[in-house]
Parts: sequence; C-alpha cells; structure tokens
Amino acid sequence: MQTKLLQIKPNESRLSENSDIRKAGQIIRDGGLVAFPTETVYGLGANGLDPQAVKKIYQAKGRPSDNPLILHIADRSQLEQLVCCVSCKVNKLIQFFWPGPLTLVLKKKQHIPDAVTGGLDTVAVRMPSHPVALALIEAAGVPIAAPSANRSGRPSPTLVEHVIHDLQGKVEMIIDGGPCEKGIESTVLDMTADEPILLRPGGVSVEDLKRVLGMIRLDIGVDDHGERNLVGVTPRSPGMKYKHYSPDAELLIIEGESEQVREKILEIYLDSTQSPGILATQEMVDSLRGKINSRVVKVLGKRKDPDEMAARLFKLLREFDEEKVRLVLVEGLPLNGVGLAVMNRLRKAAGYRIIQV
Ligand code: TXA
Ligand code: MG
Repeated sequence: MQTKLLQIKPNESRLSENSDIRKAGQIIRDGGLVAFPTETVYGLGANGLDPQAVKKIYQAKGRPSDNPLILHIADRSQLEQLVCCVSCKVNKLIQFFWPGPLTLVLKKKQHIPDAVTGGLDTVAVRMPSHPVALALIEAAGVPIAAPSANRSGRPSPTLVEHVIHDLQGKVEMIIDGGPCEKGIESTVLDMTADEPILLRPGGVSVEDLKRVLGMIRLDIGVDDHGERNLVGVTPRSPGMKYKHYSPDAELLIIEGESEQVREKILEIYLDSTQSPGILATQEMVDSLRGKINSRVVKVLGKRKDPDEMAARLFKLLREFDEEKVRLVLVEGLPLNGVGLAVMNRLRKAAGYRIIQV
C-alpha cells in the first residue's frame, strides 16, 4: 500500500477546515487507517464504529485481538453516544482533565463493536488535547479508535519517524504534527465501579487524580514488581499483561539508593564484555563521568523532572536499537508524578529484569 505523508502545523488556525485534514477524515470515514499525533504519543486511527476498519488496526500493528482500543472523541457530547451512564465523579474528572491524557473506562452502549472492546462490556474513551487530533476527529465525524501507532511490542512512537519506521506501507496516511509533548501514553482509569481503579499509569499523575477523587486503587498490573506477582492474576486492562515497549536490546534495571545504584552500574559495566549502554538521570551520568567509557550513554533528564524523562523515554529506547546496543543498564527512577508511568514502562520493557541494591 502507498502511504501518504502529510505535514500539518499544530498551531495553524482553523485546522478542521484544512483541506488535508478533511481528506484524512474522509479516509477514516471510508474505513481506512490514518496515523496522527496526540499530546501523548502518535495514534493509529480508524472509524471506531466500523468493525472492519477496526480490524485493520490489529493487522497493521500485529496486535493480539483481545487487547481493546481507546475511542477518541473531540466533543463532550459524543460521550453519551458511547457509554451508558456518566456519574458525578466522571463529570468531575472530565472537567479537570479533558481534553488531555486521561482515558476513562465506562460501561459501553450496545452498538460499540466487539472489535473495539475485545468483547468486554466496557469501553475506554478519551478526549486528546492535540489540535491536530481534535481536528481529525471532527473532520471524520465519528469517534476514532486508536492504539499507539507502533508495531505491537515496540516502544510507542513520539516522533513521526518512529511511525514511518513501524507502519509505512501498512496504512493509508501518516500525519506529521511534530514531536509529542508528553511522550508517554494516557492514564487509564476504570470508573465502572464505585471505587476508581488505576489500570495504567500515564500522563495524568496519581497525585493529581487523588486531588480530585480522594482515594483510588491501583490495579495489580500497575505497579507490580514483576510478572511473578501476576501469576494466576489477570490485570483488568488486557494490555497490561503483554511484554511491551521493548527495544531489541536487553534492559537491566538497577533500583535502590543512588550511591548503591551507581556502584552496581559500575560493577556490571566493568564486568561486562559487551560494553553496555547506560540510560540514567543527568545526576547519575555526571557522577559516572570519567569512570566509564561507554559508547552509548543517554540522559533521561534531571532527577527532579519526571515530565522531562517521560518526554524522552521512548525516543531514547529506539535510539539504542539504531546504535545496535545489546545490553542497557537503566537507573531506577523516583515514582512521583509521571515517574510512576515511566518506571512502569521501563519495568515492562525490561521484562522485569530488576536488581534491587
Ligand atoms: O495516550 C494514549 O492512550 C494513546 C494515544 C494514541 O491516545 N493510546 C494508547 O492506546 O496508548 P493503546 O491501545 O496502546 O493502549 C490502550 C490501553 C491498553 O492497555 C488496553 O488494554 C486498555 O487501554 N484498554 C482499552 N480498553 C479497555 C477496557 N475496556 N477495559 C480495560 N482496559 C482497556
Ligand atoms: Mg500501545
């Protein structure tokens, strides 16, 4: 398939009237696939009400069909057409966090295709804040089902180059809207019971959710310390059970007090014959300077700045592949703010190979 590449400037005025966006909307309406930027990561979109179109997403990504998709909407009024009831708590969340990186899991209306929900009686909905995403949904005139626009199992795409690498030739159109600001996927929150349950940490932090909701429960798939804790337990979010976000390199995470982590990184580095890459905070990299001579050292960001680390994470993981690194030593990071989401992705990417020091 010939993939058309479109460049759209997010700050252009009246985007929904842009003739290219209209063409993209038409592709969605006609049952095709369009990859587009959101504030979190690039998404791979199809008409969320057309089961045949949705099935194409799974094919293009190589994604297991029991892993449900998020429906993206551009207007609050679209929500009532998709879900059965919108509680006060849900309304409050919407007021605070939409448009933005919060996905709500709610009881679905009958007409939502099983292809979207993986046969569940719930559906995940989010209103992104990226102007290009909003304009595309408006132009399509339907909710857009969209997972991250990567081949299944690969790190999510935060630059259009990542999407082109994974999906060129498999989709009708890729819209280039520049780098994604957040760099990590949305927070997924199950609001189907009285007690809100966090299914996936993401761009909205647990601290911010608690400020609005009071208590929330973390699902077993969220901050587990390895698949060993998941034996015999099914996470509520089907996507959380798969190995994810993996570069080709093996990742090994070292968690603990900074000083001990530093010693352990040095020890493994000096013992290893394969010149491991290093992925760490600015502070850690500074303290290792002069002691190691690694080919590939990458700085995630300053320790106090989880947002910066989130924005760089997937891009750096993909860079290790380009540089043919086989082993990466990763510093465990603080879990505050979006740090929880960053470590969740890193632990999965590492297949839970974690050394506690
Ligand atoms: O930021 C994002 O959320 C990006 C952009 C493109 O919007 N999308 C994204 O989609 O990350 P995806 O498909 O890669 O991840 C969706 C997650 C999966 O873990 C999936 O299992 C979960 O949401 N999910 C979807 N529908 C669900 C449902 N009805 N119940 C529980 N979990 C659900
Ligand atoms: Mg994904």
